[in-house]
Amino acid sequence: MNLYKYVSEAINEKLGFKANLETPRNRSFGDFSTNAAMVMAKKEGKNPRDFAAEIMPKLSELDFVESASIAGPGFINIKLRDDFIWYAAAKPHDMKTQNPLIIDMDYGSYNVAKSLHIGHLRTSIVGDTLNRIAKYIGHKTISYNHMGDWGRSMGLVIAWIKKNHPDWPFFKDDFNPDADYSKYAMSPEELDTYYPAAVALAKTDEKFMEEARIITAKLQGGHPGYNALYNVFFPISLKSMTETVNKLNIMPFDKNLGERNAALYIEPVEKMLREKNLLVKSDGAEVIIVKKDTDNAPMPPVMFYNSRGAVPYDATDIMALYYRKITDNPDKIIYLTDIRQKLHFEQLFRVAEITGLFPPENLEHIGYGTINGSDGKPFKTRDGNAAGLNDIIDMINEAVKKRVIESGKNLPKETIDTIALAALKFNDLMHDLRSDYIFDPESVTSFEGRTGPYILYTAVRLNSVLKKAGIKKESKLCSLSEEERNLLIEILDFERTVQSAFDNRATDIIANYAYDLCQLINTFYHNCPILREGINEETKAQRLTVTRIARDTLATAIDLMGLKIPEEM
Ligand code: ARG
Repeated sequence: MNLYKYVSEAINEKLGFKANLETPRNRSFGDFSTNAAMVMAKKEGKNPRDFAAEIMPKLSELDFVESASIAGPGFINIKLRDDFIWYAAAKPHDMKTQNPLIIDMDYGSYNVAKSLHIGHLRTSIVGDTLNRIAKYIGHKTISYNHMGDWGRSMGLVIAWIKKNHPDWPFFKDDFNPDADYSKYAMSPEELDTYYPAAVALAKTDEKFMEEARIITAKLQGGHPGYNALYNVFFPISLKSMTETVNKLNIMPFDKNLGERNAALYIEPVEKMLREKNLLVKSDGAEVIIVKKDTDNAPMPPVMFYNSRGAVPYDATDIMALYYRKITDNPDKIIYLTDIRQKLHFEQLFRVAEITGLFPPENLEHIGYGTINGSDGKPFKTRDGNAAGLNDIIDMINEAVKKRVIESGKNLPKETIDTIALAALKFNDLMHDLRSDYIFDPESVTSFEGRTGPYILYTAVRLNSVLKKAGIKKESKLCSLSEEERNLLIEILDFERTVQSAFDNRATDIIANYAYDLCQLINTFYHNCPILREGINEETKAQRLTVTRIARDTLATAIDLMGLKIPEEM
């Protein structure tokens, strides 16, 4: 149950006006409080305390109200009945929306022949959690790994291979497109070195850069040799991409379709743009003007064809919109990228609007901040390179292993992996998405404090209590201790939290909720022993029920964050 919603709707109905409901941190005066009497009294020119006294009896009539009291200048505090809390918390969460939307979610969106790096961490982890939350609420989502697989970087990689293997058949005039070229496959590690090497060379060698540009245009134009070579390295890259994604426990993408797939729709998109007279010649290129008279900030045109006739990143995104329109026809498209792409998406959304593909309110770009090292600059590995995603996963694994060994425990590798992943992911989820944060491999792996391991540890503890106790019949309510009460009320705030995390596209809301929940669980665990000798059967049964309810909610939160609960810790 969404307790807040339930109580607030019931109160509004009873009073006949909308009361503003607060949930005080300190619950000793009440579980909810409202300033409704003060607001209404002011409107009607009455004394707030008198007005509060007038509406109090009405509130007391509500079946979930234990007591209502007036405080200060006219606040009303409301305390809920224990049995109401008890039965409400025992019901499984159910928050399927009445208005399911079709949502295309574009995250991850890795680049072919460029290994995944720290810049892909947030789009992957946060994107996956937002997707899980959207599904949990009942929306239909379609996740896209909109790969960078068709632009200049492909030209650079092919140019690099050509430079090093000019004798390979792909570059010969008599190239035979029907032969088998699988023996030219390189290892993924080797493939990873091409792009950085090519970029470094292109910086100093204008001829090489020019060649890469020409190759890009020819690749897109269907050059058989370049396309055959592309088909050799593309699957190698997709495979290692998928391996890293699996390691992160990200749900598989519904569609691994990127720029190349989008570019298949160039004809209808170009036709649409020409019919609407939107393509404008500019220095040998063709662009779409998206500037409005009301703009104060610069708003450059969107490049559709560059001067070599190749389609750049901007253009493929227009075609991707077209593809999504004619396939999913989504109610919403949510893009999750680095904040530095803000302008790109502003431009894209304007094209969507002027072409009539999608109205602006259906398109959303979430731009995330940078992950920094302790020096406040983008996080690098010790050797000074931008950290690869696999390196980061390994680094966290090492840190967890060290801690486990120090604590004298002996945990299987699988468990270490699970804890390490939770450390990495939870840390990412709990930060405000739109800001930068400082990444410290040491502190994120701590078993105490606001960390993934702490969350898992709490869940493991609940599971182990339930396992030790064996399957017990669910108990009747005796009376709730303060710890139980606080915990169950927090559990009744779960649905509101998930909804708010979704509405605000903010995973920190669910991560911080999970942490608060764990704090309350651990207070309950310490102050309300269950399996200790001398606890009477009824109390024990009730505490076990609370434990089970808490475990279920925590496990759901953990699942929404894409983490797994290990057997032991
Ligand atoms: N591949 C791009 C990058 O790494 C991100 C693509 C985001 N999605 C999109 N439809 N443009 O920067």
